Amino acid sequence: MEPGQRHVKGPASPTDEEEASSNFIMNCLQIITKTLVGIIYSIYSIIHLAYITIYPVEKSLKNKVILVTGAGRGLGREMSLQLAKEGAMLVCVDINADGVKETADMINGGRTGKDAVADHYTTNVAEPNQVNELARTVEEKWGKVDVLINNAGIVASAPLMENTDEQIKRMIDVNLVSHFWMVRAFLPAMKKRNEGHIVATSSVAAFTCAANIVPYAATKYGVTGLMASLREELRVNPSNNIKFTTVHPFFLDSAPINVKHWEVKSALPIISIPQVASAAIRAIKRDEVIVTVPEILRLLMTMLWIIPQKSADFWRDTFNTKINNV
Ligand SMILES: NC(=O)c1ccc[n+]([C@@H]2O[C@H](COP(=O)([O-])OP(=O)(O)OC[C@H]3O[C@@H](n4cnc5c(N)ncnc54)[C@H](O)[C@@H]3O)[C@@H](O)[C@H]2O)c1
Repeated sequence: MEPGQRHVKGPASPTDEEEASSNFIMNCLQIITKTLVGIIYSIYSIIHLAYITIYPVEKSLKNKVILVTGAGRGLGREMSLQLAKEGAMLVCVDINADGVKETADMINGGRTGKDAVADHYTTNVAEPNQVNELARTVEEKWGKVDVLINNAGIVASAPLMENTDEQIKRMIDVNLVSHFWMVRAFLPAMKKRNEGHIVATSSVAAFTCAANIVPYAATKYGVTGLMASLREELRVNPSNNIKFTTVHPFFLDSAPINVKHWEVKSALPIISIPQVASAAIRAIKRDEVIVTVPEILRLLMTMLWIIPQKSADFWRDTFNTKINNV
């Protein structure tokens, strides 16, 4: 074309139009087919879920190396004790040296050396250098970690403007950022073996909202998002065999230092630590992706998401799960 000459676009040739409309029909057919396949697959999944609920398939945890963070007390200690009863070898990790040693001692019950089935490490999981050092030491001693349970967590309840900067930063570091350090330290070895299971203790706070725990709830939403997206990232590989479980407990009859943070006036009773631990372990054995304790919580929380905001607020007010400002 000469410089300055205008390019006049003629009407689309009948061939272009035909091609465009046949593409459109093909796209529509593809969407309809995918939707139908999706509906059939969803029905199959619901029937399969009902079947495996009645006839569950559970993997054995015997001789599996399981690392639990926050094992120095509370839920982490209880999970460690129950896992030991399943025949697992426990790597107990906590920032509290006395607490974590006590947990390992309780499991070993006097067994030492080669007979010991539990080991303990004093690690601040919010510190990436300490976490990497932990991974090196544990892999050297135990060869591998089959199940990684990121459970350590802290809470400080107050209206957001009364939380100190340090409290907010610390909750984010311990409850959320530590999961990144732990996963990044232990996932590569799991990927190499194409085997492993990563578990996170989240909370009911990841599904709903509550006053006076704004930073805590944000960290639990974060953990749930991290776990779901990481699972998705690995699912891209069709032969991936690394599993993910996120545990969402309601309020626990936890250590007094935690319990003072809330005053629950809810239709749902406070749950016991052994109840959460056994639900979490059952979910690990069944490769369940999400578990709420109690189970009904999942349905209730889903309903809160679906119903109009005003009625969600009404239900929340009615059951009044109140977090104190301490
Ligand atoms: N207590 C509840 O009502 C409740 C409800 C839902 C979810 N959760 C979650 O369950 C998990 C366990 O809660 P819990 O009630 O057993 O708490 P807990 O305070 O009794 O135990 C937490 C443990 O984590 C350890 N820890 C804290 N910071 C650490 C760090 N930086 N590095 C390593 N270890 C550290 C503590 O020393 C302690 O032993 C937490 O993630 C918590 O957010 C608790």
